[in-house]
Amino acid sequence: MRVLVIGGGGREHALVARLDADRDVGELLVVPGNPGIARLARTVSVDTGDLDGVLALTDREQIDLTVVGPELPLSRGIADRFASEGRLLFGPTAAAARLESSKTFAKAFMARHGVPTARFRACDSIDEAFASVRTDEFGLPVVVKADGLAAGKGVVIAEDRAAAERAVADAMRERKFGAAGDRIVIEECLRGPEVSFFLVCDGARAVPIGTAQDHKRVFDEDRGPNTGGMGAFAPSPLVDAALEARIMREIVEPVIAGMAAEGHPFRGFLYAGLMLTASGPKVIEFNVRLGDPEAQVVLPLIDEPLLPLLVAGATGALGDTPVRLGSECFTGVVLASRGYPESSESNQPITGIDRAEAIPGVAVYHAGTSRRGGQLVTAGGRVLTVVGRGGDFAEAIARAYAGVFQISFKGMHYRHDIGRRALESEV
Ligand code: AMP
Ligand code: GLY
Repeated sequence: MRVLVIGGGGREHALVARLDADRDVGELLVVPGNPGIARLARTVSVDTGDLDGVLALTDREQIDLTVVGPELPLSRGIADRFASEGRLLFGPTAAAARLESSKTFAKAFMARHGVPTARFRACDSIDEAFASVRTDEFGLPVVVKADGLAAGKGVVIAEDRAAAERAVADAMRERKFGAAGDRIVIEECLRGPEVSFFLVCDGARAVPIGTAQDHKRVFDEDRGPNTGGMGAFAPSPLVDAALEARIMREIVEPVIAGMAAEGHPFRGFLYAGLMLTASGPKVIEFNVRLGDPEAQVVLPLIDEPLLPLLVAGATGALGDTPVRLGSECFTGVVLASRGYPESSESNQPITGIDRAEAIPGVAVYHAGTSRRGGQLVTAGGRVLTVVGRGGDFAEAIARAYAGVFQISFKGMHYRHDIGRRALESEV
């Protein structure tokens, strides 16, 4: 089979590395890719927003299956376009992608189908939003979320009424998130540990492919602003077989059945962000794709070829057999540029990746890298993810950091405590 992967971050590097290990992948093409991906696959520089350009490429290269990494092309309808041209693609239609691209859709959908989530109010007008926060409708703290895609920055947990009013005004009056904040969701603040639950879906069925926990804040001990993710570990020690069965029964099955019943069967990767509250697992958010850096630690859990699973997902042919998952643990540490997440410095030479990759059980995935002359340089906020694998988390963490210590670039920073939570929850 000839496979095209769309995207150019650490998540796509991990996808390509996983597909590259499958024997039946004939040729792998990636748009636009990155220097790490270019060592495994042919990279083609087409603008991923240019659907005509991407379709022309799949024709020219006789691509059998396209796999989409990021959410933006999905919410813009790449799957719809491919379907209308009779081309196979693994990923949801724009209507199904609203589970991620519209929080008001996702919340109302969950309410319609009895999926456990925080109590909420979807507000179209600033007056309605102010009325909700001024009457402490959901108590304090309260959560204020922009409706649309806001690159992970559209969520405020307001400790008091003034902060909640400010968050409402920022989104709806100052339009801090542009059109994404024209509608907002105000919701109850849930408490408990967060876990991420990943599935491959074919429109009618969903099979789990593993769990992870991430580290969103930029500094150690969860201090500093939120980022796209500074590291992750997999699998989550908090999810045992009984909890997985409950998540499937109370959350995943109603979502898959509900989307199909409403005429938008969900195909693609589904990533449920869950909070394990005292009254059971509740949905914080859905993503219609793999996470980054979660993909870098979740994909290696899968102990069978990935390509047949994606083809089955894309064609509505997933069986009832569970996906085989290995017993190893994975820890991924993100190396970021000076200034991230507010800004980021680029063009700094990177050294030591070869030495890191030479350590057994260490893999390095590229995100914000580029080639200048013969030299690998930084090109963005999150530069690399260094993943360590091990028989337990202590070993996986030690290997990940052994890899990290080999790599350097000017301004490099990272968290020193990735995976520690896994050690704390292991018995
Ligand atoms: P989201 O972009 O929806 O994933 O939200 C970003 C982060 O905000 C989540 O990972 C949670 O840590 C936090 N968060 C979102 N919604 C809630 C909620 N209802 N209660 C508590 N924390 C939340
Ligand atoms: N790391 C969070 C995400 O990819 O959405």
